Amino acid sequence: MCGIMGYVGPQEAAPIIMDGLKRLEYRGYDSAGVAVSNGTIDVRKAEGKIAGLVALLDEKPLEGTVGIGHTRWATHGVPSDLNAHPHTDPTGDFVVVHNGIIENFQTLREELEAGGSVFTSQTDTEILAHLVAQEYDGDLAAAVRKAVERAEGAYALVVMTKREPRKIVAVRKISPLVVGLGDGETFLASDIPAVLHHTRDFLIIEDDELVTITEEGATVETITGDPVDRDVLHVDWDPGQAEKGGFEHFMLKEIHEQPTVITETLGGRLDEDGTAWLEDVEFDDDFARGLDTVWITACGTAYHAGLVGREIFQRVLRLPTIVEYAHEMRYSDPMVKEGDLTIAISQSGETADTLAAARLAAERGTRMLALTNVVGSTLSRYADDVLYTRAGPEISVASTKAYIAMLIGQYLLALRLGVARGSIDRDRATEISHGLNHLPAQVEEILENDEAIVEAAQAIVDADDIYFLGRGLDYAVAMEGSLKLKEISYLHSEAMPAGELKHGTLALITEGVPVIVVVTQRATYDKTISAVQEVKARGGKVVAVAYDTDTEIEKFAEIVLRIPETDDLLAPVNAVVPLQLLAYHVARLRGHDIDQPRNLAKSVTVE
Ligand code: G6P
Repeated sequence: MCGIMGYVGPQEAAPIIMDGLKRLEYRGYDSAGVAVSNGTIDVRKAEGKIAGLVALLDEKPLEGTVGIGHTRWATHGVPSDLNAHPHTDPTGDFVVVHNGIIENFQTLREELEAGGSVFTSQTDTEILAHLVAQEYDGDLAAAVRKAVERAEGAYALVVMTKREPRKIVAVRKISPLVVGLGDGETFLASDIPAVLHHTRDFLIIEDDELVTITEEGATVETITGDPVDRDVLHVDWDPGQAEKGGFEHFMLKEIHEQPTVITETLGGRLDEDGTAWLEDVEFDDDFARGLDTVWITACGTAYHAGLVGREIFQRVLRLPTIVEYAHEMRYSDPMVKEGDLTIAISQSGETADTLAAARLAAERGTRMLALTNVVGSTLSRYADDVLYTRAGPEISVASTKAYIAMLIGQYLLALRLGVARGSIDRDRATEISHGLNHLPAQVEEILENDEAIVEAAQAIVDADDIYFLGRGLDYAVAMEGSLKLKEISYLHSEAMPAGELKHGTLALITEGVPVIVVVTQRATYDKTISAVQEVKARGGKVVAVAYDTDTEIEKFAEIVLRIPETDDLLAPVNAVVPLQLLAYHVARLRGHDIDQPRNLAKSVTVE
């Protein structure tokens, strides 16, 4: 998730762009750059924090009143000066910044290289600079249109050329882009907060739209060239609210980003027939076929993602899959060995225990795969294979979108391994692929209908203890739902397999005790309902997470949180969303600091 800025007007562009980039800092970044047009195009870029770029600009200032800038959150290519944006074409006449992922980047790069193009970076973005330059015939907007016709994927792409010096052209598909309308000056940004102190009037650019900005204002068109009449949005948010995209908390914002996160994590990695293309996963089919045991190691929410992974890998690969807390695994003399695959899951890629467990596993000869959200993180550096989730920076301590991205990563891995091993056939792989591609729209649907979730939050807000039940994949989701609630509401909550209830915890179920049951898995539906009936018989208050097609559940549950029906294997992605929102609403009703819960840290880099 990168940050983009653009400016055309009477003022010096570089300071305005730098100020905007600083305001986009919360999006996270590993490098930054700026380009200014002033007869020629000059570019400055630097790896690391914005302070590095500020120092460079002090040393080598940029002058000019038209410019674009970027903070990068790496997806293709390590964080470095060379990979930082802006990127230019070989003549240096065209310069681009880009947020998103070009899925057919490899094919395009090979085509361009065959035609003699030489690239200086490892990024997908540099290709776009080459494409725009090649397509240019006196009209920048037309060249951008033709260039993106060839590109598949997600992008907010911003382009400037010295041949039409007083304009900037931008195009959007999935990645966000807004225009700020000033008095005799116009701004472009990924997000409203970057320019809120310059103007409160915005045009929100939608998917498949192209915008041209000059100091006079902005012209919006569809990507096919039809004019668009976009209403001006007047924003009266305070700056704190603006940073959160108008949401009250980062956690809620991040929950709402999940449809995009799923789309981005799948982007360019999955064919219709279930073939998975995972760019930094380098093992071959022979390794997949010879695999003996899958190990998963992680902490916290990442461990809970691993619990889902265990079910996925066992079902898809028909292989023993062991999931261990990293802080347990590292001291347990684990029987991990050559021929095994160890998947270390970590949003940050810096959790001390996860790093230690992964290192131990690697020392014992296993192949080590990092499933992480941070390009260039310590974990990614010493893994044999890396699968990056593309959740973008997560600010809320309670992890939501990173968890969903970890689930998607594991489905992709399971397809990669399962197809190679022949443990699932083509039809099944195709079904899973279709199901995965439907998830963004389904999660969106859950987010749009949260009335029952608010009702459930009100029903449990004063409870002393709350229990979560489920079986198999539903149990894994129940574990995460319980953790979310505990982390931010400070209520005591506990998750267990539904079948375990009668072996002890049932003694605690009395009149009005809330029990939240996740009941999506058809194979064990009746068994889970038996546990629900045991709860009801003791007066427990049952809240269920169930498919919208489940006509039975209302007989047993007081409140039902509906989710769209999916293939049962994929149900955790939808099922966790109401539980994230439930935790959020309970914490809000209780007046807690949602984004920074007491005693907890986002990243635990000590043992
Ligand atoms: C901390 C965070 C959790 C996170 C865990 C593992 O406890 O508060 O949200 O799940 O660390 O972090 P990682 O970066 O390794 O996924």
